[in-house]
Amino acid sequence: MTPSIQSADATISIRGVRKTYSLAGSVSPGKTGKKTGPRDVEALRGVDLEIREPGFYAVMGRSGSGKSTLLHLLAGLDRPDTGEIIVGGCAVHSMKENELVKYRRREIGVIFQQFNLLPTLDALANTILPGVLDGRPTKELETRGREILGELGLSDRLHHRPEALSGGEQQRVAIARALLFSPPVILADEPTGNLDSTSSAALWRLLEETASKRKMIVLMVTHEAIAASHCQRTFILKDGRVAGEFESHGLDPSQLAHRSSELARTA
Ligand SMILES: Nc1ncnc2c1ncn2[C@@H]1O[C@H](COP(=O)(O)OP(=O)(O)O)[C@@H](O)[C@H]1O
Ligand SMILES: [Mg+2]
Repeated sequence: MTPSIQSADATISIRGVRKTYSLAGSVSPGKTGKKTGPRDVEALRGVDLEIREPGFYAVMGRSGSGKSTLLHLLAGLDRPDTGEIIVGGCAVHSMKENELVKYRRREIGVIFQQFNLLPTLDALANTILPGVLDGRPTKELETRGREILGELGLSDRLHHRPEALSGGEQQRVAIARALLFSPPVILADEPTGNLDSTSSAALWRLLEETASKRKMIVLMVTHEAIAASHCQRTFILKDGRVAGEFESHGLDPSQLAHRSSELARTA
């Protein structure tokens, strides 16, 4: 491995990150020095965000405030126009494409609202897929996959395909897959968007426990105050910038919602 993709501490440092989408769908200004067109969307307009220790963190903000864009950039799925993104020891903003592929596979786990499991693969095969793509020995991967699925309470679901699993179970398989390489950071974009309230509550507890037990950062985008009340800290995005942050663990959800809308209003 090259130094830029070495595993390191669970830390995230985002400085001055900007991202503009051009209407044509291609990326515009940034380093190219092109001007922003009148119909371009400035999704991120100078984001600064620091996380220095493992734990469960939330990002909240109105629809369109840039939450998903920020997670995409952190996941190495897209690049910022300007600014720095450092995850553990990885300078994600300056990685070459082949380094990004390894970074995405090994250094970061991502969970989406839609689970994104392959329908033809069972729970175990879905879990170990990133390892198979990385060329790791299958036996080793299966042992590891069984172990993680077991820890997530899915020992008796190893050979079920997604269609034979509940939404909550599918999301736990997605978490198992994200944990395969024990990355320092897991990113979750509205992970309970397709779950009922009971499964959602179980998933927040699981993410909280995962972060503390494995000493990793779990950064979750959510619009639900009750979800953020499981997180130690909540960052509020507004119009492509961080409008503020506060300690949120154990806060009453209505208090938390009030706090975040105040920040979004006054910032
Ligand atoms: N691929 C894209 N092309 C053009 N505009 C986009 C694209 N993705 C997001 N946007 C725009 O960027 C802004 C931020 O979007 P997003 O990060 O998805 O917000 P959020 O997740 O907070 O709802 C929105 O105005 C959205 O319409
Ligand atoms: Mg979004």
